[in-house]
Amino acid sequence: MTSDAGEKAMLEVEDLTVTFRATASTVVQDMTFRIDKGATLGLVGESGSGKSMTALATMGLLPPGAEPAGSVRFWGEELLGLPDRAMRRIRGDRIAMVFQDPLSSLNPYYTVGFQIAEAYLAHRGGNRRQAMRLAAEAMDQVRIPDAGRRVHHYPHQFSGGMRQRVMIAMALVCEPDLLVCDEPTTALDVTVQAQILRLLADVQETTGAGMLFITHDLAVVSQVADSVVVMRHGRAVEQGTAEQIFSRPAEEYTRQLLDATPRLDDDVDLPEPIREAR
Ligand SMILES: Nc1ncnc2c1ncn2[C@@H]1O[C@H](COP(=O)(O)OP(=O)(O)OP(=O)(O)O)[C@@H](O)[C@H]1O
Ligand SMILES: [Mg+2]
Repeated sequence: MTSDAGEKAMLEVEDLTVTFRATASTVVQDMTFRIDKGATLGLVGESGSGKSMTALATMGLLPPGAEPAGSVRFWGEELLGLPDRAMRRIRGDRIAMVFQDPLSSLNPYYTVGFQIAEAYLAHRGGNRRQAMRLAAEAMDQVRIPDAGRRVHHYPHQFSGGMRQRVMIAMALVCEPDLLVCDEPTTALDVTVQAQILRLLADVQETTGAGMLFITHDLAVVSQVADSVVVMRHGRAVEQGTAEQIFSRPAEEYTRQLLDATPRLDDDVDLPEPIREAR
């Protein structure tokens, strides 16, 4: 099926299905998508549609009792069914994650520099001094002012937006090929959200990483994604280029989602693709 022979896709998800055995509920069904290096796939859909389960299955982080089926290939290697040890080697290194709530992912008792350095040392080894220097560089890369001093600060000494930058720095420290972002800006106010989105776009441009970007907010996805998958009840109801989805949605459900985007009421704040789609 590959058009350009020999060229492996970075991430290929095929017929991914996730079932909770106890309740026999299938929360993700037959999801198929592909992300190339440097590209961003936006995964949108209402709460409970299965976005996070799709991401967690991709990273081998499903909660106990949830069983994946289908295929998740990363540079051609099947990840589903990979032993924990092997998956842990990939996760945080080649595939890194950014979640909604940085406070629950950061340890309050260690400096952020220490934690970023740990993320590096866990995968690459080497000495702590060098890792701390890389931590400062990563913090500088995500434009935390005065990074050389801020590495020695604790999570609570940062604002919400700066903490999310710390998480992005931690995700970037091993220079991953794929960044999985699950609602990374949802907890932030609109101005900070816009800054983080711009930062992610810049980071992607400089590092060439691919991105799986999850959000319930179509306005956000229109700002970051090249292609979009719209999910509902665990299934993809529509997928296509961002341009197609925003200007010529084929499905009624996608149209409803577009109509329900709060900022549609306020032309001034509308991202261009959605403004044009109106
Ligand atoms: N332990 C569980 N047992 C059974 N079903 C579960 C369990 N945990 C989650 N689910 C169900 O899985 C479905 C998909 O959840 P998921 O977290 O992927 O949704 P989501 O699209 O990320 O929603 P949100 O936008 O609120 O984050 C939901 O309907 C949820 O109720
Ligand atoms: Mg979710």
